[in-house]
Amino acid sequence: MRTDTPQTIHRKDYAAPNYLVDTVEMGFDLEPAATRVATRIAMYRNPAAAGRDIVLFGEELELVALRLNGKTLAKGDYRLAGHVLTIPAAPAKAVLEIETVTHPDRNTSLMGLYVSNGNFFTQCEAEGFRKITFFPDRPDVMAKYTVMLRADKKKYPVLLSNGNLVEQGNLPDGRHYAKWEDPFKKPSYLFALVAGDLVCQEEKYKLKSGREVLLQVWVEEGNLDKTQHAMDSLKNSIAWDVDRFGLELDLDRFMIVAVGDFNMGAMENKGLNIFNTKYVLANPRIATDVDFANIEAVVGHEYFHNWTGNRVTCRDWFQLSLKEGLTVFRDQEFSADMIGTDSGRAVKRIDDVRVLRQAQFPEDAGPMAHPVRPDSYVEINNFYTVTIYEKGAEVVRMYQTLLGRKGFRKGMDLYFKRHDGQAVTCDDFRAAMADANKRDLTQFERWYSQSGTPQVDASARYDAKGKILELTLEQTCPATPGQKKKQPFHIPVAVGLLDAKGRDMPLKLEGESGADATGTRVLELTKARQTFRFTGVNEAPVPSILRGFSAPVVLKVDYSDAELAFLMAHDSDPFNRWEAGQRLAMRRLLNLTVAVQAARQSGHVVAVDTVLNNIEHDGALADALRATLNDASLDPAFRELALTLPSETMIAEQMEVIDPHAIHIARQFLRRSLARALRDDLLAAYRANRVPGAYSPDAASAGRRALKNVALSYLAELDDAEALSLAQCQDEEANNMTDRLAALAALLNSTASGKSEALQGFYDEFESEALVIDKWFTLQATARDADVNTVRSLAGHPAFTLKNPNRARSLIFSFCNGNPSAFHALDGNGYSFWAEQVIALNGSNPQVAARLARSLDRWRKYTPALQEKMRLALQQVASSPNLSRDVSEVVTKALA
Ligand code: ARG
Ligand code: ZN
Repeated sequence: MRTDTPQTIHRKDYAAPNYLVDTVEMGFDLEPAATRVATRIAMYRNPAAAGRDIVLFGEELELVALRLNGKTLAKGDYRLAGHVLTIPAAPAKAVLEIETVTHPDRNTSLMGLYVSNGNFFTQCEAEGFRKITFFPDRPDVMAKYTVMLRADKKKYPVLLSNGNLVEQGNLPDGRHYAKWEDPFKKPSYLFALVAGDLVCQEEKYKLKSGREVLLQVWVEEGNLDKTQHAMDSLKNSIAWDVDRFGLELDLDRFMIVAVGDFNMGAMENKGLNIFNTKYVLANPRIATDVDFANIEAVVGHEYFHNWTGNRVTCRDWFQLSLKEGLTVFRDQEFSADMIGTDSGRAVKRIDDVRVLRQAQFPEDAGPMAHPVRPDSYVEINNFYTVTIYEKGAEVVRMYQTLLGRKGFRKGMDLYFKRHDGQAVTCDDFRAAMADANKRDLTQFERWYSQSGTPQVDASARYDAKGKILELTLEQTCPATPGQKKKQPFHIPVAVGLLDAKGRDMPLKLEGESGADATGTRVLELTKARQTFRFTGVNEAPVPSILRGFSAPVVLKVDYSDAELAFLMAHDSDPFNRWEAGQRLAMRRLLNLTVAVQAARQSGHVVAVDTVLNNIEHDGALADALRATLNDASLDPAFRELALTLPSETMIAEQMEVIDPHAIHIARQFLRRSLARALRDDLLAAYRANRVPGAYSPDAASAGRRALKNVALSYLAELDDAEALSLAQCQDEEANNMTDRLAALAALLNSTASGKSEALQGFYDEFESEALVIDKWFTLQATARDADVNTVRSLAGHPAFTLKNPNRARSLIFSFCNGNPSAFHALDGNGYSFWAEQVIALNGSNPQVAARLARSLDRWRKYTPALQEKMRLALQQVASSPNLSRDVSEVVTKALA
């Protein structure tokens, strides 16, 4: 905890480290109350740096001994100021020996070395290694590590670290040891150890090259019936990276360990990935289809980091997206390839874009907006954001869109050829892409340096005489913190032209010779405004723009309702087909929201429904959705996405002033009226998409379940006997968690009796499954009739604790971020609750507290009454004592 003003770190201040490290030897005497760490660091002066001081970082450490080249350093030989230990004017070669003591059982931040359910774990990214020992804890210092672990053999039978196990044996007093050696140079943030009472599923696996490796998934006793999917996902990841990028596993052993207390999703420590249990443990009884898919994605993500992140790492934390954006792109492609079909790929793409729009677009328009490569930060842990990850992945995807798959691969190959074993920058990556393809990607750099979501305005003009279609694209980008004026981006815009029958037309730009391409072509928008002229266009087309969401921008086009329905029915690009439906629905939702507000203003609160019923006279949306719902040629997973209305958060982002209650009423109204209009079709879809037989999480079965369950959730809006009995039967008969949860959610949002019995039954059945109890909390926090009192009383439940991040997220975050109309209650009680929770978490886990603090990011966009209450809550947090750097940065920026 700090009391001084937190410092801002700037990218422009980057300086190479004075000393580099050859080898690190570490010895751990593991005890929960006090763990002794002896570290021996062989350092040498960096020829590329001017300074002669050795600079080490250390936090929350007791320094027991410090020796330089065999000589103990006295107090006057070094300076310890805050978290920085400086040894001035050191010799060119320095062997540092450091002894420190840490207190893992008191470490609630879950950074550094900590205890979870009696076992030891580490989390070192970004700056956790400095909580284990004093070290030049920065990613551009790469070294080889040897680690000796010593612990009580009964309590901690399993001792793991990075690399290969080279020795193990017994010690006096019931203790034992294990020695690990990592053959690869790595930055300290990739260090890891695990010690405890764990069991593993293991398998020998033959790589494509013929080399045999050992794969292990470590969990607590009793969880071995939940590791198969993670193991399968790991093997699929290994095979995929060879196939797609020619990248093979470089170690003889690869371990995944699951831990119940974890701040994030997972961590790519070299050879010893540590995972939140949420992204490892699965079987049909406890995990949903979405969980299965997430596990595959996260296992892939961490595995892919072995090359994009570990073999080639980041020079400094401003370059975080170099590894994260690229690795998210890789895991997205992996998941898409695992589905295998074109329609499956499209569904995955839509899912990913939904996340981007729902979370990243608001971030990019709010007080924490930052470029993909930030210029400054106060606390780096606050920059593990959707911008770094998801927008970063979009930026990488644009290279592939501009260069083609082959060209992208050439760029990747050159990147590894140039930089294997190095700590590099986003500019290095861009240079590899440009050089390998002999392309000028200078302007593309703005995707890294400018924040904010660009807007592209498209307009088309058809000249029947000349058979020319003129497409004008204009780009702008709103001001963001610290960036008033923006330069034009280099934007790939994939377009197609549909004829009256809905078929793709030939695409030839004026002045081009050769055969016409039919289908999609990528236009490159590089200026503020550009006009593209297509020739030989025989009839007035409907343009399909930004196919596949070829760039992370907001596209404005003036389509009529009829044109949108036409695109929804015919576009050969599945993304834009879905998008057309979403545009149609959004239009409707915004009109309804305005109508709710107007009715309220005129005092006709009770008449809102009547008002809405009166404006809901045209059935265009219902007709279009019915056609999609009943189109058997479409993937069920796609139909489910098409039927899902834009979320309340998405609608909010479209409004000048956010009125969460009006949005909620409008969206619920539309759901109910669609349910009424489509009742028979929904019932038919429900029946047709039951999946018989044993559960399998494959995409086709999951898609059918998704469609069936979205039908159920619409039908439940009608609150009639038939819908409720469907839900009841499903709850009783389901052989998997996906169907159980869907049924329970439908019941909870209805007027059915016996809700609390159903909830209690579910709790009793799954009491020993922490991940399912998380779902139980989330279900109630996001239920339609939940309010802050519901959540307060759940927070008093014996199973609730703020100390476990998954549990805190399941209740508190789910309510604050996932139940907008209840959270933004007019009395402001949601905000007081939020402030209390942020302050409580700040004391135990600043990183998780800072995440929750971001729930009020968009406060300036709300109605004046809500704004004022949100500001007060933010100020309450900002002025509370002992504020961590993490939370302070978030609330300071929000209030600025
Ligand atoms: N590198 C990890 C991943 O994306 C995330 C670790 C973030 N940890 C943190 N404390 N900020 O896979
Ligand atoms: Zn990552």
